[in-house]
Amino acid sequence: MLVNKEHGLAPSYAPGEDPIAKEALLALLSQMQNEGLNVSDRYSGFRSYEYQSELYANYVAQYGQKEADRFSARPGFSEHQTGLAFDLMHEDGTLLTNPLEASWLEEHAAEYGFIVRYPEGKEEITGYMAEPWHIRYIGEEAIQIRDSGLTLEEYINLP
Ligand code: DAL
Ligand code: ZN
Repeated sequence: MLVNKEHGLAPSYAPGEDPIAKEALLALLSQMQNEGLNVSDRYSGFRSYEYQSELYANYVAQYGQKEADRFSARPGFSEHQTGLAFDLMHEDGTLLTNPLEASWLEEHAAEYGFIVRYPEGKEEITGYMAEPWHIRYIGEEAIQIRDSGLTLEEYINLP
């Protein structure tokens, strides 16, 4: 499933947190914690259309629409509405940005079926600024995507 600025979801689409993705996420988080990395059990996962509407409206009010569009999806266009995307946090509740944890995810998230969805330097393609904390459940193919070095958009469009 591809959700981005071009591919949206119906407002009524509300599957909740995907149970397979959730199980993989819990395994990933506990492995990170076992390795002594700074990652919280708390995360932001499934978001309804209505909730994304509120978030987006708040960001627009705060930063203006042009800037908000660089880091927040409009309602109906957030991967969080699929139930397959998760924002990870440090133990202090801030979004996961520390290089140690971020590079662990780039290297190992795929072993748990996840890709880092918005990499550095790919804003033109994904539509969003880098988000080291946002991982998207794919399943086994996450390994091929990681190894390709491509974004999900580019990988899906491969001939
Ligand atoms: N921050 C991501 C792009 C979202 O709002 O879904
Ligand atoms: Zn996210």
